Amino acid sequence: MAAAVRETPTPNSEALRPDQIPHHVAIIMDGNGRWAKARGLPRTEGHRQGTENLRRILQASGDIGIRILTLYAFSTENWGRPRAEVQMLMRILESVIDRELAELNQKGVQLRHIGDLSAIAPRLQKKVREAIALTRDNDKLIVNLAFNYGGRGEIVHAVRQIIAAGIPAEQIDEQLISSYLYTSGLPDPDLIIRTSGELRVSNFLIWQGAYAEYYPTPTYWPDFDEAELHQALLAFANRRRRFGRTDDQLETNE
Ligand code: IPE
Ligand code: IPE
Ligand code: MG
Repeated sequence: MAAAVRETPTPNSEALRPDQIPHHVAIIMDGNGRWAKARGLPRTEGHRQGTENLRRILQASGDIGIRILTLYAFSTENWGRPRAEVQMLMRILESVIDRELAELNQKGVQLRHIGDLSAIAPRLQKKVREAIALTRDNDKLIVNLAFNYGGRGEIVHAVRQIIAAGIPAEQIDEQLISSYLYTSGLPDPDLIIRTSGELRVSNFLIWQGAYAEYYPTPTYWPDFDEAELHQALLAFANRRRRFGRTDDQLETNE
């Protein structure tokens, strides 16, 4: 009976048509620490497993035909964590680039970054910039890494740039602001997944997510596998995006 209530992941049980696949999926990869704690392991091990899971989800996303994947890896608020954990997360980013870059490039992944790179160690900044430059012409899947990212900080950054560019007030509209965000040129996310059961946005894509479909799952990030992703996509396919309009309007295509 519980199965009727809970969404049980069943991979490929229901095939999705290409037009049902969201173009841009964003994921708040949360729950690494709790995953580890539940196993009596250090948080570090949760982050390590979370990174392993990244490989699996990147592969699955490309195979499914998702075009843009935005991944929340480190928030501007995460600097408030113990120093050792922050250092660990920086090291993880570095080792992911070292280990995975060649293969990602070969698979046609275009790596991008959103957030403030200037606050991280120069050596790591350089690595990220080189990875972006190496993969810039790839077009199979855009992977947008949100690292030292915060939605409010992003808006502040955009406002400063707009003022610095001397843009007059009457020229400021939603499109212009979008074009000054870190995600400039990319369409807004269609689906935002959050693992670990939290029901909040934690400063992620607060402008771009205005009309995203949200999908929370209790699963911790290291356990969020292909079947879970499929489940999220199925849920998305069954949502009705009204964008403020009525069902009647949608049916009659008015
Ligand atoms: C997500 O897992 C990774 C980062 C925020 C860097 P957490 O580290 O937040 O794990 P929990 O939420 O404490 O379980
Ligand atoms: C959000 O997770 C940030 C990332 C997943 C990178 P947090 O674990 O930092 O969020 P809160 O603190 O629970 O809201
Ligand atoms: Mg967390």
